[in-house]
Amino acid sequence: MSMQILRSEVILEKYGKALAGKTVLITGVSNESIAGELAVQLAAVDPKLLILSARAESKVTPIINKIKESKPNVATRFLNIELGDMSAIRNAVENDLADIPKIDHVVCVAAVMACPYAKTKDGFESQFGVNYLANFLLVKLLLPKVQAAGASSSVIIVASSAVRGGKINLDDIGFSNGETYEGWAAYGQSNVARVMFAKRLGEKLKSQGIRVFSIDPGAVSTGLQKHVTTEFRAQIEKWRETGGSLTDADGVKYEMPPWTSRSEGAATMITGMIDPTITDFTGSFLKQNAVADEELHSQVRDEQLWTRLWEMSEGFIGEKYSL
Ligand SMILES: NC(=O)c1ccc[n+]([C@@H]2O[C@H](COP(=O)([O-])OP(=O)(O)OC[C@H]3O[C@@H](n4cnc5c(N)ncnc54)[C@H](OP(=O)(O)O)[C@@H]3O)[C@@H](O)[C@H]2O)c1
Repeated sequence: MSMQILRSEVILEKYGKALAGKTVLITGVSNESIAGELAVQLAAVDPKLLILSARAESKVTPIINKIKESKPNVATRFLNIELGDMSAIRNAVENDLADIPKIDHVVCVAAVMACPYAKTKDGFESQFGVNYLANFLLVKLLLPKVQAAGASSSVIIVASSAVRGGKINLDDIGFSNGETYEGWAAYGQSNVARVMFAKRLGEKLKSQGIRVFSIDPGAVSTGLQKHVTTEFRAQIEKWRETGGSLTDADGVKYEMPPWTSRSEGAATMITGMIDPTITDFTGSFLKQNAVADEELHSQVRDEQLWTRLWEMSEGFIGEKYSL
């Protein structure tokens, strides 16, 4: 179980049979995204249905076309969700998925990174709202369908190595209504929230055999970098060349992840979904196809904060998980 950058094909070759006949829902699908690549990769192992979510059908069409070409027998469906709008999430689950009784794997991949300050339709800082809170609501609403699929189903929450430098401030989650907002700090915070959510959800679902993992897909050139300035990009490349000079929130040094392909980015998500050797580590943070909890700084491991975040989030969505 050592960390290794591997292509999706390698993981699927080993464990992909487990996905035959299954229904998988993926958010953040586009032709440029890791989620789009994940969909194409999964199609190769004959799932029954791939539910591909984005906030515009045009994002998903190229991926559906690719799958139609390579695997015409795999059913696909576009699911329209604007993740910055809780009513859209509710509408999608209640209406558009009403005919789907079971979903074996839910893979929450969509995100926005280091964007200018904005609020979701419901008034949350947009990175917290889209990258984390939308998943908290979506997973809550989908859980009966995942439970109907039974043991070995999974909930995958994609996060980032940004969890390492990130801190969460539960006393001021919205950056004083934007006054103290900084795009990278908000991206870090949203990733701390994603990892903490997976930790607590993993614990709660362990007895039911439902797998939960948060994932760092590694560095992949995608649509995600659209808000990264040229200066910052140059700085990142310099860090990479000099072996990295980053420190996490506890002051521990770590290196910039190397650039990898989309297939390599999607691989750790597939590991989370089906690798049988990590089942007992449900709730964990995965990186390079292995459990990487030792990389999490002390705030992310603070279980009291998991509880506070969970309860706050239930308040924000106005619903409680029945777990
Ligand atoms: N790429 C990397 O190097 C890297 C590294 C670490 C972690 N990650 C994580 O990996 C995941 C995938 O990112 P990616 O690199 O594939 O980025 P990407 O190409 O930008 O894909 C993200 C997708 O999320 C969608 N999205 C954003 N806001 C949305 C909203 N409000 N409602 C619905 N969909 C929305 C985007 O759609 P629109 O085009 O409509 O905005 C886009 O298709 C993210 O969770 C990211 O945090 C990526």
